Amino acid sequence: MHLGIIGGTGSAELFGGGALVALAPGPWGPTSGPLRRCQVGGREVLVLARHGETGAPAIPPHRVNYRANIWALREAGVEHVLGINAVGGITLATPPGRLVIPDQLIDYTWGREHTYTGDHRFALRHVEFTNPFNPSFRAKLLATANTLGLDPMSEATYGVTQGPRLESAAEIDRLERDGCHIVGMTAMPEAGLARELDLSYAICCVVVNRAAGRAPPGLGIHAEIAASLATGMDRVRRLLVELVKAD
Ligand code: HPA
Repeated sequence: MHLGIIGGTGSAELFGGGALVALAPGPWGPTSGPLRRCQVGGREVLVLARHGETGAPAIPPHRVNYRANIWALREAGVEHVLGINAVGGITLATPPGRLVIPDQLIDYTWGREHTYTGDHRFALRHVEFTNPFNPSFRAKLLATANTLGLDPMSEATYGVTQGPRLESAAEIDRLERDGCHIVGMTAMPEAGLARELDLSYAICCVVVNRAAGRAPPGLGIHAEIAASLATGMDRVRRLLVELVKAD
């Protein structure tokens, strides 16, 4: 499996760092940072930090150059792209620490460069998006997570908000009425762009906080994030090692 991972800041460190991949500049501008060749489960995977690497000012979700990132992974020979996303949990079934491998999303973002079509003579395609995540890649992720006893939630809908601010309680109520189980800021346009390039794309989300209006009074969202991020990411690391090994 030629696997590429787009994760948070510190993604490459999750696998002990990795050598830089030399890439010619692409037509869509700079990526969030360098691609790194990391050893995961005895195999090589390419890792890109979506918000830039540790030490650089973080790129906010609406400014990430999603087009350049997905393009660079394809140019480097990647066939499967796994997004790792920290998200807020909206429902009782999505408490902090839970892993979610969603099968659906709703895009609430606006103003992002969300397509390759219309630029650089890229042919217009109305790509199918009934299943925004690749079903067989997702199934593999789910099976691996289940084997490890990680209790992943599947059949979940990810509401993608614009950020960088967090939501109001009423906005989260609306997302829940719309059928969303989790909320984050980065699955789109990433998923749509991967589909435009015919890459197999899926995401593994870590719930790091209860969404606005869902936590008991007094417990701030940032405190929850600090408390659950490391445990959640360690689960993701174990999942990835096993996923690559099983291939
Ligand atoms: N809302 C949106 N994005 C997020 C959240 C949230 O509560 N937590 C982590 N990413």
